[in-house]
Amino acid sequence: MSTSFDLVIRNALAVTAADTQQADIGIRQGRIVALGEGLGAGAREIDAAGRHVTPGGVDGHCHLDQPMPPPVKMADDFITGTRSAACGGTTTVIPFAAQEKGSSLRAAVEDYHRRADGKASVDYAFHLIVSDPTPTVLNDELPALIDAGYTSFKLYMTYEDLKLDDGQVLDVLDVARRHGAMAMIHAENSDCIEWLTRRLEAAGRTAPRWHAHARPMLVEREATHRAIALSQLVDVPILIVHVSGREAVEQIRWGRAHGLSIFAETCPQYLFLTAEDLGIDNSYMGARCVCSPPPRDKANQEVIWDGLRDDLFTVFSSDHAPFRWDTPDGKHPGGKEVPFRHIPNGIPGIETRLPLLYSEGVLTGRISINRYVELTSTNPAKAYGLHPRKGTIAVGADADLVIWDEKEVVIDNDRLHHNVDYTPYEGMKLGAWPALTLLRGQVVWDGTRFTGAVGQGQFLACGKPTLVPQRR
Ligand code: URP
Ligand code: ZN
Ligand code: ZN
Repeated sequence: MSTSFDLVIRNALAVTAADTQQADIGIRQGRIVALGEGLGAGAREIDAAGRHVTPGGVDGHCHLDQPMPPPVKMADDFITGTRSAACGGTTTVIPFAAQEKGSSLRAAVEDYHRRADGKASVDYAFHLIVSDPTPTVLNDELPALIDAGYTSFKLYMTYEDLKLDDGQVLDVLDVARRHGAMAMIHAENSDCIEWLTRRLEAAGRTAPRWHAHARPMLVEREATHRAIALSQLVDVPILIVHVSGREAVEQIRWGRAHGLSIFAETCPQYLFLTAEDLGIDNSYMGARCVCSPPPRDKANQEVIWDGLRDDLFTVFSSDHAPFRWDTPDGKHPGGKEVPFRHIPNGIPGIETRLPLLYSEGVLTGRISINRYVELTSTNPAKAYGLHPRKGTIAVGADADLVIWDEKEVVIDNDRLHHNVDYTPYEGMKLGAWPALTLLRGQVVWDGTRFTGAVGQGQFLACGKPTLVPQRR
């Protein structure tokens, strides 16, 4: 029998950011080549009757094998991190090539390629982290890297080894404007954090829970407003990452109401964790959930849900920042219970991002399934210049697809595929998990095990962002 396709997914409820249609999906050479009723035979066929099929997730904010000051080390490299991504329905990841102060940005990119080459099992692109915007970086390296497909970068307003002052932020934003790149901003006021941290330390308040007191919403609100003002001055869009609650949300709404092009990201930790997860006593267990900005409270979780519902948020990312709990290179640096200042910031979540939002957002009716696709796949692909190859189900797009199984699943770290020895979501009951993840037409997760191959992930050179400004 002659076949028209390498693979046909029959009777899919194919979901895009715009609509949901019942269709067969015809795949050839890793791409979607037909969508319609009664497609011809495929060499392989999968029946998806009654199941939602969404585009593979695009995780536009995750950290893999990012160099850290010793003894700290990220738990996931490109092998374990992308394997975990695939098993949770994500087929494209965009981690960060981080410039070290005093070194060149190009060197950071070359080093990061060495870390990724031959290891990824899903496709990947790089954001840049600009920590030292010298004239060479601003005039030569950054423009050349943008032309070469590194079209987004993250700027930090806090963290000693990464932060930029306002003048440096303006300089880098000006490059973004002139070259059409996307600037992502980590907005927290560094001096306020340092001042509060010293006061807490002087009072002996160094347990993990005090991390949240050193980074109250005010410090995020102030820096968010300042970032918006800086973007207005330069006249360039920005994307505020990992927005945690009401005060930053209000600033973004203010910016939009003034006609400014401000995009915004939030992450699972701001929907499912609160500051209490950092501890209600002086126990060190809360170190597991230390991340920045810190999770807030239940009322703020509702503010984040509102923003997911009503278009305030542009993208939903994991901010997977993997540190092990029970080893001296992770949350116990040097093998000790350290003051919160020294606890590595970040929590794992590359595999749980999509099931958490599908289950608690779509199945509960908080957001539509089309909005889910927009937040987790289409908009990150547009923001970082990968659309329409990634982020949609359309003829010509890569056949990166997730077939969903709506069944009860209890999150259990032993069943996750990252190299982290805990998940903050242990024991949570979800209503869905991917039954199948396809990367360019190949099954990389079959519902029970990872079926991909180390090295099958391709590096993606990014184009210019194609998001349209949001007005609400
Ligand atoms: O605490 C966090 N979010 N750690 C990861 C680094 C960052 O700022 O995103
Ligand atoms: Zn950040
Ligand atoms: Zn991050």
